[in-house]
Amino acid sequence: MKNILALALAVAVSTLLPNFAPAEEKFSPWVDAQGAITLPKDFRRWVHLGTFVVTDEKAPGYGVHDVYTQPRSVEAYKKTGKFPDGTVLVKEIRKVKSGAMTTGFANWAGEVLVWFVMVKDSRGRFPKNPIWGDGWGWALYKAEDPKKNLATDYKRDCLGCHIPAKDTDWVYVQGYPTLK
Ligand code: HEC
Repeated sequence: MKNILALALAVAVSTLLPNFAPAEEKFSPWVDAQGAITLPKDFRRWVHLGTFVVTDEKAPGYGVHDVYTQPRSVEAYKKTGKFPDGTVLVKEIRKVKSGAMTTGFANWAGEVLVWFVMVKDSRGRFPKNPIWGDGWGWALYKAEDPKKNLATDYKRDCLGCHIPAKDTDWVYVQGYPTLK
């Protein structure tokens, strides 16, 4: 009797397991099993969180920085004050255009220069992949080649500059009124 029960249990577990595996593979449509990150195509249809503008052409961040995330992440953040697992933040940087308008001297966004991407990973899924850590996956794409992630080591390429935002999960939330 015990053996039959054990067998029944083993069968039940083995039929359930394959259902768990694909669920975890679906962690994010923009992250593959090894942790490679792709730039989401439709991010401009997501929620616009806010804009930073760096007008000094010699500054490292020269450009208009528009930041987007998924609608469900905004809803969750408003409730919990945390970015839920799978949240994608896309920062699109475009050239600064400027000139006199009927409103006054204005700056606005020109052609795209780069995209910065962060993907929230609350479970530390890719401990051996150097673009993952501190709760996020980190990526950078240039307009010339939106398929190639130029970030190879987030600690060297990204983290240093995000230290001032460490207490808010590395994100500069003060620039994103949509989260309030
Ligand atoms: C020169 C410093 C610097 C470097 C290097 C840098 N960041 Fe940032 N990043 C910032 C600052 C400052 C902001 C917010 C203000 C702004 O955009 O000017 C920001 C904002 C972002 C945002 C928008 C969400 C947020 O955190 O507010 C993303 C996404 C992002 N960075 C990803 C990255 C990734 C990925 C890398 C590495 C490939 C990286 N950053 C490297 C300074 C930097």
